[in-house]
Amino acid sequence: MKVLTVVGARPNFMKAASIIAAIRKHNGESQRHGAGEPIEHVLVHTGQHYDALMSDSFFADLNMPAPDVMLGVGSGSHLVQTAEILKKFEAVLLDERPDIVAVVGDVNSTVACALATAKIVFDATGGRPLLAHVESGLRSFDRSMPEEVNRVVTDHISDLLLVTEESGLENLRAEGIPPEKMFFVGNTMIDSLLRFNEKAETSTVLERLGLRPDSNGQCGQALSYALLTLHRPSNVDSRETFLNILEGLGDLARECPIVFPVHPRTQKQIKNFGFGDWLTASGNDGQGHAGNTGVLLIEPLGYLDFLCIMKHAALVITDSGGIQEETTCLGIPCVTVRNNTERPVTVSNGTNIIAGTNKERIQAAIRCQMAGRAQNGKARPPKWDGNAGTRIIEVLIQSFSEISTGATDPAMVAQ
Ligand code: UD1
Repeated sequence: MKVLTVVGARPNFMKAASIIAAIRKHNGESQRHGAGEPIEHVLVHTGQHYDALMSDSFFADLNMPAPDVMLGVGSGSHLVQTAEILKKFEAVLLDERPDIVAVVGDVNSTVACALATAKIVFDATGGRPLLAHVESGLRSFDRSMPEEVNRVVTDHISDLLLVTEESGLENLRAEGIPPEKMFFVGNTMIDSLLRFNEKAETSTVLERLGLRPDSNGQCGQALSYALLTLHRPSNVDSRETFLNILEGLGDLARECPIVFPVHPRTQKQIKNFGFGDWLTASGNDGQGHAGNTGVLLIEPLGYLDFLCIMKHAALVITDSGGIQEETTCLGIPCVTVRNNTERPVTVSNGTNIIAGTNKERIQAAIRCQMAGRAQNGKARPPKWDGNAGTRIIEVLIQSFSEISTGATDPAMVAQ
């Protein structure tokens, strides 16, 4: 069986790392104990993210092999980026002829490679690879988010829908997806977090930035630092919304440093909107050193550095999807500056508050999280146990064997 996994943008790497680790484990057992045929694996990187800081460093941190194929698509409008990937990925499919293509998450690379896989024709019988979507079923119900369109399209053309949380199953059922295509496997991003949690302790990022770990609200200790990430176009491409969020952080910035690893899109907008002065006014010396208090702007961090800084933060403020999940797993209070989440389990079972982008609501959510800080650390959501990658490989092997032995009608796959 030949599996081809696609990565393109930063949040894909930790998900693919879990699948690669599970394939390595399977192949080790196959070699040592003759347990099943080994899996041939091909890793394709579309190049949607291409900087050393947004891409290369993750391969080393996550112990991933270098990609077998690099498409090098780079930046562009969403449509140009998606179209470029579609065109280039067709040639890869025809060359590699995988049995299964695994796409992860909800970025432009995910939908483009899913579409190519669903429409490719290998031979006169219409043969094509099985398409597996890892992180299926999540819905924000906000079609103005590019990722929501990517999720819906990818799910509806996939053969195997690999789901991270129970809401995903409900959403897929409500959209009429046949239940035999759905598999509740757990969360590959959490697999990587649990696998590298200990190693992240060797990171020197706190020393480098002059920060101290949080004491989890004990003995009336002052807050150590908060962590901020922002990159959603709806937040950083609108001057008014971006400013509202920053103003919502004003009180917190007077209490403790807010460390802000800045995504390239956000960096451009800080310059465009002239927010540099606002961000550095209250204590940051602008040289990458935490002064007294204020917002500390730094470059994007690698995986292990980010994990280390996140797990020792007093509070995380974010508009990222994955960070809502990671903070839930770590029991770190999280304030999400969006009006919705496609990951509701992070609110019902986790430590997340959806605050929106209104200044007063952000301030209230921060106060609420700080007041309850010591009580954090609820149980992890079901199947967020480090074994999602293994379950995914089991599903892929089983589904491929059913197709190969004729137990599943290949015409069903094409539906
Ligand atoms: C993409 C994903 C988003 C994910 C995010 C994580 C889509 C629709 N969006 O958004 O779901 O949460 O990645 O980072 O796929 N840039 C660089 N260097 C890079 C990559 C990008 O400078 O290595 C610049 C680009 O030129 C562009 C901006 O950053 O101006 C945004 O990059 P893009 O890939 O378009 O989308 P993201 O906002 O990163």
